[in-house]
Amino acid sequence: MRENWTSKAGFILAATGSAVGLGNLWKFPYTVGMNGGGAFVLIYLFLVFVIGIPLMLTAITLGRKTQLSVYGAYKSIDRRWTFVGALGVICSFIVLAFYSTVGGWTLYYFKTALFGDLVTTDSEALQKIFHDLMTSPGNLIFYQTIFLLATALIVLKGIQQGIEKYSKWMMSSLFILLLMITVRSLTLPGSMEGIKYLFIPDFSMVTPTVLKNALGQMFFSLSIGMGSMITYGSYLSKKINLLHSAVMIPILDTSVALIAGLAIIPAVFAFGFEPSEGPSLMFITLPAVFASMPMGTLFAILFFILVIFAAITSSISMLEIAVSYFVDERKTSRNHATIITTGIIYVLGIPASLSLSGYYPINVGHLSLFDLYDQLSSNILLTTGAFFMTIFVGWVLKPKNAIAEIESSSIHFRLAPIWSVLVRYVLPIAILTILIESYRNFFQALFH
Ligand code: TRP
Repeated sequence: MRENWTSKAGFILAATGSAVGLGNLWKFPYTVGMNGGGAFVLIYLFLVFVIGIPLMLTAITLGRKTQLSVYGAYKSIDRRWTFVGALGVICSFIVLAFYSTVGGWTLYYFKTALFGDLVTTDSEALQKIFHDLMTSPGNLIFYQTIFLLATALIVLKGIQQGIEKYSKWMMSSLFILLLMITVRSLTLPGSMEGIKYLFIPDFSMVTPTVLKNALGQMFFSLSIGMGSMITYGSYLSKKINLLHSAVMIPILDTSVALIAGLAIIPAVFAFGFEPSEGPSLMFITLPAVFASMPMGTLFAILFFILVIFAAITSSISMLEIAVSYFVDERKTSRNHATIITTGIIYVLGIPASLSLSGYYPINVGHLSLFDLYDQLSSNILLTTGAFFMTIFVGWVLKPKNAIAEIESSSIHFRLAPIWSVLVRYVLPIAILTILIESYRNFFQALFH
């Protein structure tokens, strides 16, 4: 028997848990910083509404209609399209290999905060903590292992007792703490500059690359393009209103990204860091924010617990893509499926961690293995997967069948004609245009 979510709220929290993760707390602020600030934020918001929400609906509808893993979903409708499902499963291995690397960093930071060694406003000391971690293979491997084990243990317990249960309490606590930290960051002297940076667009910064980065970031943040949402949708009962969920999840996810931006970027300016610092941004600026508040160490500990929660509720949705494939298609038990998939990810993931350390620089072309996974997933695989999904639903499954699925829970889909035009024409063309830029950029980064 295939499990179902216990309630609509359970599904929304689990799916929001999948969406809200390192993509929001860690990636969004530094991606904003590397792409010029306000204009990027505005483009991002526009893309969420025009592309993100319609695609979220597409994905969960596809899942609920077929009640199968991403692989089975494509295969059961048209065998010739099985390759898109396969792409999703393969992509989930790569993304989780990369994700668990950063998941490991958050665990290490939690430990450092716990021992009271993290909280200082000395920017050199903060940069050193990050650098020391990057050059310590032992720590990188140890913490990534723990992160993957925690992910596997939750997925092992299944949908209701595992994914839904953990997502519920982890997500609820996350919202509260994030708000507290944001208030502190916004009241730091000098934070106004950060707010301006986030919200006053400078359109001279907009290039095709910025557009491509915004789209890639959006797919990553909404967990769209490789099957997390199709898989989660497949555990939905026929009673649930899909429209409501498809709007709620992106709005919650985008709110958390903006709040994370507000927590991190003003602090960057207040303490004289550079917003374009890159992946280390959250790790070196936030401890400085904590140092400037009463009970800073306590807040730092709580904050890193929350980052870990956010990361785990996302990583379980990645692992579930591959696990559900083995369970549905290969008739493996959930236990075996979890062990096999976690093992594969481990083998892919440890070299990615090590590729950052000075001792084992593993490079592919001009990219470290870590950067390769990152670029491949956010810029290439997700966008490609999303492109095929729109073509598939627009032209193979056909909008009328998807609409029938949406309306089967006795609701009327008023915007159905607009949505149909979007999935058939607008979205594939828009995504393809940006995809060309993504491929060009990717090969350039790899070889030049
Ligand atoms: N959205 C998550 C985040 O922001 C990451 C994630 C979970 C994801 N499932 C995914 C990304 C599927 C791409 C595809 O951290």
